[in-house]
Amino acid sequence: MRETIEFIKEKLNGFAPEIGIILGSGLGELADEYCNIAIPYFEIPGFIKSNVKGHKGRLVFAEINGKKIVMMQGRNHFYEGHSMQEITYPVKVLKALGIKTLILTNAAGAVNEEFKPSDLMLITDHINNMGSNPLIGPNDDNLGERFPDMTEIYDKSLINLAEKCAKNLGIDVQKGVYWANSGPSYETPAEIRMIRMLGGDAVGMSTVPEAIIANYCGMNVLGISCISNAASSISGDKLSHEEVIDTTNKAKIKFKSLILSVISAL
Ligand code: HPA
Repeated sequence: MRETIEFIKEKLNGFAPEIGIILGSGLGELADEYCNIAIPYFEIPGFIKSNVKGHKGRLVFAEINGKKIVMMQGRNHFYEGHSMQEITYPVKVLKALGIKTLILTNAAGAVNEEFKPSDLMLITDHINNMGSNPLIGPNDDNLGERFPDMTEIYDKSLINLAEKCAKNLGIDVQKGVYWANSGPSYETPAEIRMIRMLGGDAVGMSTVPEAIIANYCGMNVLGISCISNAASSISGDKLSHEEVIDTTNKAKIKFKSLILSVISAL
């Protein structure tokens, strides 16, 4: 960790970010538009070297609306075969860089039948069905407790703030529970019925490991899902990664204006 932080800080010339944003599938554009300093993940000691598919895979530092931001443009996933510890290492790095507020974003399938593709959902809570947990292994008592509380991972005041920002922008937002599977296969119709019965509103393959680590080490977390498709069986159509990316592209204008407004309001 010391080596990672030294490497990054050397490139920052004293720039000290306060807010972190992890940009999910199809949502990376913000880091193209606002970019003062960029560091590809493969250069950073301790980061996973493989490319992030469909993303640039870099840390981007920028001042946006007067706030100092670090963005992760793309993330690695558990389904790629990396460990939970590897995929969440960057969150610990953000903590060590001084980040207090972390905005997690993703593309997700709608399980709640009231949700439509291109809706935005503020994550109120999550269900971890990935079959593992990023805190497995020895605990670093300097970072957090062995058995950390997870009662309010997604900060209520940040949800209220994001709702207010959305209202001012005239954007309708949904709220709900994000269910995480390991993937990479999408869900079967029976699995979607089960997720709905058990309280999931949207389903995806990311975010939960990062949210657990961020909460564990004391960061305030806001989670935003971009609903990219009706989950398996709801629409009757087959599901493809292209559909997920196409819909996310359509939603990204809304998504970007919401993020920018939240950043200003923080
Ligand atoms: N299921 C799981 N992950 C996803 C989906 C989905 O329907 N859409 C985008 N990510």
